[in-house]
Amino acid sequence: MNQTLFQAIILAAGRSSRFAGTSSKLLMPLCGKPLVLYPVEALNALSISSTLVIGYQKESIINLLSKNPPPGLQFVDQEEQRGTGHALAHTKSLWRAENIIVLNGDMPLVTSTLIQNLINAHIQNNAAVSFVKSHYIDPTSGYGRVVEKNNTIAIVEARHFKGDFTEHCFINAGIYIFKRSFLDNAITKLTANPDSHEIYITDLIAIASDQNLSIATTVAPFDQVRGVNTLQEFWAAEQIKRGELITYWMANGVYFPVAQTVQLHHDITIGSGTIIDSGVQLLNGTIVGKNCIVQAFCILDNAVLDSNVTIKSHSVVTQATIKEHAIIGPFAHVHHQTIIGSGSTIGNFVEVTRSTFARNSKAKHLSYIGDARIGEQVNIGAGTITCNYDGVNKHVTIIGDNTSIGSNNALIAPLEIGNNVITAAGSTITDSIPDNALAIARARQIIKADYALVLKKRLGFKQKVKVQKNAAA
Ligand code: UD1
Ligand code: CA
Repeated sequence: MNQTLFQAIILAAGRSSRFAGTSSKLLMPLCGKPLVLYPVEALNALSISSTLVIGYQKESIINLLSKNPPPGLQFVDQEEQRGTGHALAHTKSLWRAENIIVLNGDMPLVTSTLIQNLINAHIQNNAAVSFVKSHYIDPTSGYGRVVEKNNTIAIVEARHFKGDFTEHCFINAGIYIFKRSFLDNAITKLTANPDSHEIYITDLIAIASDQNLSIATTVAPFDQVRGVNTLQEFWAAEQIKRGELITYWMANGVYFPVAQTVQLHHDITIGSGTIIDSGVQLLNGTIVGKNCIVQAFCILDNAVLDSNVTIKSHSVVTQATIKEHAIIGPFAHVHHQTIIGSGSTIGNFVEVTRSTFARNSKAKHLSYIGDARIGEQVNIGAGTITCNYDGVNKHVTIIGDNTSIGSNNALIAPLEIGNNVITAAGSTITDSIPDNALAIARARQIIKADYALVLKKRLGFKQKVKVQKNAAA
């Protein structure tokens, strides 16, 4: 886009008072992306540089945008938030293009196409002012009403509107384009509304109309221009965005049997042939390969799944990579820099962190594996724990290929266990084990015949069922 023709202002200084929270609504992540980034990215996709008007929680908004700033991004401080017209006026010294596009910061469903349509209408009509309107009757809504009569046009804010809602069924979406030649002068004419004491950007429409200037409008579907003022409106907007994402992935061959319960972030990827079951959350750039099954109520957060992986229900996979044909869960927790090799199985109530499993290894029941390097074809028995933490430092456990760790082992790290090793069930392994060895590290069992009866008598235990004395005794 020609920079001398268009520049954009995004209004993002408001207090979010109707949000009833402590954080600015503009920082709230909608499908994983903070609200304010949606209009910024829609403009950036059209190569239009933006100036953000900031005030409430401005440091957090600057921080957020500094991570990956779009070209030409600027900020203007509106210390006192006295309305949208007041916010726009604050940017005057930065106006340089022939046309100024203004967007509310709280419309996350806006698209580049919608903005481009308004630009086209603005140019075709050689308009002084152009804005987007949308058909929406609901008399309880807070949107400004577009009021057209006798060749005049104005936007009347909801709180001041007294007319018939079905007759005035178009609302103002909050996207405008002003010709600089009009705006330079018109902005000085804005005054505070006597009732609300706010300065409204929307009054610029009536000013242009009074001057008989050309005003262009485009009509957009309401679902693309919904504003977010309350938590309920945030929830409604997120539902729509999520619906768009699910529709997109379904078109790419992903099946969601109970799609209405699934939470998807905007930046995830899912391969075709994959099934995502009810209540699953795919978050923060998670990548799911082809032909995977993610069963009910799993959370995959910044996870990478190759093809043909199965994540059984109620599992949490965070910052971990699962290679093809591996099976995780149910009720498994696999996290932080963990790699589960192809064909490996992590079963129920197993936690794995900062560890790697090579191919075809298994930890199927009730284990904690931390800071471990596990070889191929390893079997880790039920209830095994890597004792990796001495209270100050974390230590590494290394287990070689084809090794079997018996049930209920405590592996006290640092530890190196070789290839082809067997450890006996119930062992507390404190020393490294060479290849091909059997390690037994538990107390020997002692049998004292009939001694239980002696003890019980001494303790005064009342026998409820008659027991025969051991014939051998
Ligand atoms: C605004 C419009 C209304 C329109 C609706 C569409 C006005 C007066 N009304 O109402 O006609 O139907 O959007 O969603 O513009 N802001 C500032 N500084 C301020 C006040 C607000 O930067 O002093 C920012 C807010 O952060 C927000 C945007 O401007 O991103 C819109 O403000 P908001 O208070 O949400 O306006 P609405 O009442 O929704
Ligand atoms: Ca709003």
